[in-house]
Amino acid sequence: MTFENILTEKENGIALITINRPAKLNALNKQTIAELHDAFKALDADADVKAIIVTGSGEKAFVAGADIAEFAHFDVKEGEHLAAQGQAMLFDFVQNLGTPVIAAVNGFALGGGLELAMACHFRVASDNAKMGLPEVSLGVIPGYGGTQRLPQLVGKGRAMEMIITAGMVSADDAKAWGLVNHVVPQAELLDFAKGIAAKIIKNSPIAIALAIKSVNAGFEDGVNGYITEIRSFGEAFGTEDFKEGTTAFMEKRKAAFPGK
Ligand code: COA
Repeated sequence: MTFENILTEKENGIALITINRPAKLNALNKQTIAELHDAFKALDADADVKAIIVTGSGEKAFVAGADIAEFAHFDVKEGEHLAAQGQAMLFDFVQNLGTPVIAAVNGFALGGGLELAMACHFRVASDNAKMGLPEVSLGVIPGYGGTQRLPQLVGKGRAMEMIITAGMVSADDAKAWGLVNHVVPQAELLDFAKGIAAKIIKNSPIAIALAIKSVNAGFEDGVNGYITEIRSFGEAFGTEDFKEGTTAFMEKRKAAFPGK
């Protein structure tokens, strides 16, 4: 895969996507969103890839938001289309991937940057990271799922404060609020994320995908998460991974999951 605005690599079952527009603090323009969609889709379909980490290039930013220069002249229809298309192509797409995605937030995660991190399955941050949804300071609101995912992660009151002050929170506050799971020195961030990914990839990829689907179901309108869980639980019993996992346990050996 060759891209202009992102870099991808894979090693030992773990893929790394680096958003690579450091001169623009990795801001998400249309092309970068399309490239991210293609990369996530291809890596999710790659049986060798069992976990994906997404980060930003450089030491300053994860992603400083949607590319303001690109939408500054948009009208009402174009604005609505921008949000709908972005949500479908990237933010909802990442949230619903069966392959687990970890955001390694290595600096500013603002606007669409924080929204991307929140669409990932969980987040780790460097100690210099700063997170916020500054859209109302530009006369607009978060449009890539921020008004929905931020309250889910930090609670309604904190989300309201962050969104309507347009302020930023430190990595430590983000951790205390449940927005990120871990905070580590910047130089250790990627190894730390890879360490968590290494634990994930020992488990059944099929069971992981079913677990992600079931957790997400509880946050979808009109979907009963408990029923999704029951069906996914049953589905797991029909997989080779289940046979291997239970057999390995009884034979007192480590499971070698076929991912089927
Ligand atoms: N869209 C487009 N370009 C962006 C951008 C964005 N969201 N964020 C940063 N950039 C660009 C800047 O325009 C600048 O480009 P230039 O050198 O060609 O002028 C470059 O990235 C570096 O940013 P700069 O503002 O000079 O860095 P800074 O250290 O002074 O400030 C920030 C860093 C993150 C505080 C500041 O860039 C910022 O507020 N960015 C916008 C954040 C935002 O509102 N995001 C939500 C968008 S909906």
